[in-house]
Amino acid sequence: MLDVQTTQAAAPAPTRREDYRPPEWLVPSIDLDFDLGAERTLVRSRLTVERNGAEGAPLRLDGENLTLLDVRVNGAPADYALDGDMLIVEGVNSGDSVETTVAIQPAANTQLMGLYASGGILCTQCEAEGFRRITFFPDRPDVLSRYTVRMSADKALYPVLLANGDPVGSGDLEGGRHYAEWNDPYPKPCYLFALVAGDLQANRDRFVTQSGRTVDLGIWVRPEDLPKTHHAMAALKASMAWDEKVYGREYDLDVFNIVAVSDFNFGAMENKGLNIFNSRYILADPDTATDADYDAVAGVVAHEYFHNWSGNRVTCRDWFQLSLKEGFTVFRDQQFSADQGSAAVKRIEDVRALRAIQFPEDAGPLAHPIRPESYIEISNFYTATIYDKGAEIIRMMHTMLGGEGFRRGTDLYFERHDGEAATCEDFVKAMEDANGVDLSRFRLWYAQAGTPRITASLRHDDAAGRAHLTLEQAVPPTPGQDSKQPMPVPLKVALFGDLTGEKYADRLIVLEGVAQEVIFDGIGERPILSINRDFSAPVIVEADRSAGDLAFLSANDDNPFARYEAMQQLMLDTLLGAIRNGAADSGPVTEAVRRTLSDPNLDPAFIAEAVLMPSEAFIGDQMEMVDPNAIHIAREALRADLGADLERLWRDLYAATTANRFEYSPAAKGARRLRTVALSYLMAGGAEDAAALARQQFDAADNMTDRQGALGVLVNSDAPEREAALAAFYDRYRGNALVIDKWFSVQALSTRPDTGAVVKALADHPDFTLSNPNRLRALIGGFAANQCALHVADGSGYRFLADMILAVDKLNPQTAARLVPPLGRWRRFDADRADKMKAELSRILAADDLSKDVFEQVSKSLG
Ligand code: ARG
Ligand code: ZN
Repeated sequence: MLDVQTTQAAAPAPTRREDYRPPEWLVPSIDLDFDLGAERTLVRSRLTVERNGAEGAPLRLDGENLTLLDVRVNGAPADYALDGDMLIVEGVNSGDSVETTVAIQPAANTQLMGLYASGGILCTQCEAEGFRRITFFPDRPDVLSRYTVRMSADKALYPVLLANGDPVGSGDLEGGRHYAEWNDPYPKPCYLFALVAGDLQANRDRFVTQSGRTVDLGIWVRPEDLPKTHHAMAALKASMAWDEKVYGREYDLDVFNIVAVSDFNFGAMENKGLNIFNSRYILADPDTATDADYDAVAGVVAHEYFHNWSGNRVTCRDWFQLSLKEGFTVFRDQQFSADQGSAAVKRIEDVRALRAIQFPEDAGPLAHPIRPESYIEISNFYTATIYDKGAEIIRMMHTMLGGEGFRRGTDLYFERHDGEAATCEDFVKAMEDANGVDLSRFRLWYAQAGTPRITASLRHDDAAGRAHLTLEQAVPPTPGQDSKQPMPVPLKVALFGDLTGEKYADRLIVLEGVAQEVIFDGIGERPILSINRDFSAPVIVEADRSAGDLAFLSANDDNPFARYEAMQQLMLDTLLGAIRNGAADSGPVTEAVRRTLSDPNLDPAFIAEAVLMPSEAFIGDQMEMVDPNAIHIAREALRADLGADLERLWRDLYAATTANRFEYSPAAKGARRLRTVALSYLMAGGAEDAAALARQQFDAADNMTDRQGALGVLVNSDAPEREAALAAFYDRYRGNALVIDKWFSVQALSTRPDTGAVVKALADHPDFTLSNPNRLRALIGGFAANQCALHVADGSGYRFLADMILAVDKLNPQTAARLVPPLGRWRRFDADRADKMKAELSRILAADDLSKDVFEQVSKSLG
């Protein structure tokens, strides 16, 4: 191991949940005046302040990277001091007006937090703590203010000027400039502030709310992108109608605008009345977006729209409550998407994502409860745990209380806390009070990290016609939490007769303690256990079922998720057996897949999900010590067997799912999905014409799903068609950033042994840049998620990733920090790999001027 000494002067101090105190000062209103320019923007801000804490305490305002030009109280020069980044103003009284003038430099802002420039557009991102990079302010979510905003800018460069709320005035100024004024009547925390200035055009539409108010909708993009906004607009209108129907929530302003920008740190942002999106979650047309992209656009549009109630009207008291808005809103967008298409497929996709990202997080050095106790940098806590496990915890309440009970709870929550900054506790309390239930033990789900392990064993007493189901739970230790208490775990359970296939029982069991026995009477034959149906709880179930039982469930369970799950378990057991013993009998998997492929009653979209092999990373996650090569070999061998043994079926399906022309419908999507899955199995099985079929699909495709699907199959192969397709793809889409991202990521995700070298070469490609988060995620994020490529035995993958993290950290700490977690999995690898991973983490930690973001992730990963 390298001997690296940490030169970090002083480790940044954590912020703790227990230290929460109400704000010393409130700011009932703020008037902002922006003199906009990319190189230099002047921000004049006038706060009306009100004392909320101890008499005599000075006014303390957060700031970061601001050039302070002037401070006044009630118009007169003020008595102030700077304490680090903080502005301290003395002698302020309730009702005073505090004015500051600062200069900022949007074009030099590479962190993409605060006001920044993206391809000629000026835009903002304030959540979580970006507003302090725009002006001095108490930058915390429990300070709610009414905002008025005036912007002036060069009219030719920035013909469109948008901010939160409703437009109230605009006009021309001298020197080719113009101005616009916006007014947001709803008090909001500063993380929801937004403005946009640019040469944009809108796809405009209208929505009439349930009470008959007309809302003007606009989706603003660069003029050439207008034709790609129709899907997002349809999704927006569907979301608005859905939130009225399902949650009784109506939109509350006269306008709702969405702006798409190319440089954005994450998916999108729910700023009041002015959502700002990563363009990848707005732009879609058949030639450039896959069906998965279409689904993601609709899901994110819905998510941000739903935040208007779950996040904006009721916001968070402090950032430890982040899951209050994110978990709940993810749950809402999941419900929405389930209602738009196949609920079963949506659930499978969501669980797949949870297991791919959240389970490893919850089992590693960065594990944290959905309501964390402390953080160094809050940006590091926009995690799969806060979002996706958070959504599962909301879903469990929905499952236990039923749809109507849950709705009574959300009604009460919105009624009680409208206009307030609330806590997770407030949400649970509303659920309890509206339903007369006691959720005291359930609250542990907010406080304890780690994925619970449930052991289920079923015993049948033939003579008594009785089945005994014994359930046990263990919540594993996680950093800072050595011992855990048992939590209520809602498990949907059914029993099927071994001989008759009859369903004997179908119930919701809430496992309350460490162990519990449940008795089922009237069971006259050996029962087969179907458990955690619909994935009713975010847990790992160990049920010790035979291959025969799993095959039975994969063919006969009436719960589609459980059917999928049985097949996954069967595949997993087979793969783990093969890794352990060097070989395994692929017969039961082949038979189960054959039955699924030949079942005429199944939806093709479901079939495609059900026959997909668990990912290499997920297989690794089931192993005490991950052996990336053995996993890869075993998985490819099983894929080859399935491909060859079922070749006729794959061919038939491939032919049957070939469409004449593109259509965007659930049926057509399902057919496309299954088609590429069939192609990939044909390829894996070594069919001689597979590469030619793929090339043909690639050339003939009238949509991106088929084209990218074919490319994804070819890119793993050695076929000569591979290079040709990659080149053709690049030439066709040169200049279309979102599609060129696909070109990078498909290569980064390749299973070929030369992927590490290819990725390194691509990092020098003229189209690669560290400053665009989408491009970075496509290449480096893809590589970091590629288990085989990252973990090559010589450690070169780790070194490359660490180099990238260090380089990106200089520009954009948030994005750099998000590349760290794969290196933190060293405990799960052999000593040689673990040492190399730790050496790279130590090398990062020793770097000068490391950001808080990367410092936190790396130091916790070293543990
Ligand atoms: N609230 C946004 C959303 O989930 C995401 C904001 C992410 N912010 C961050 N600092 N990572 O819709
Ligand atoms: Zn969100």
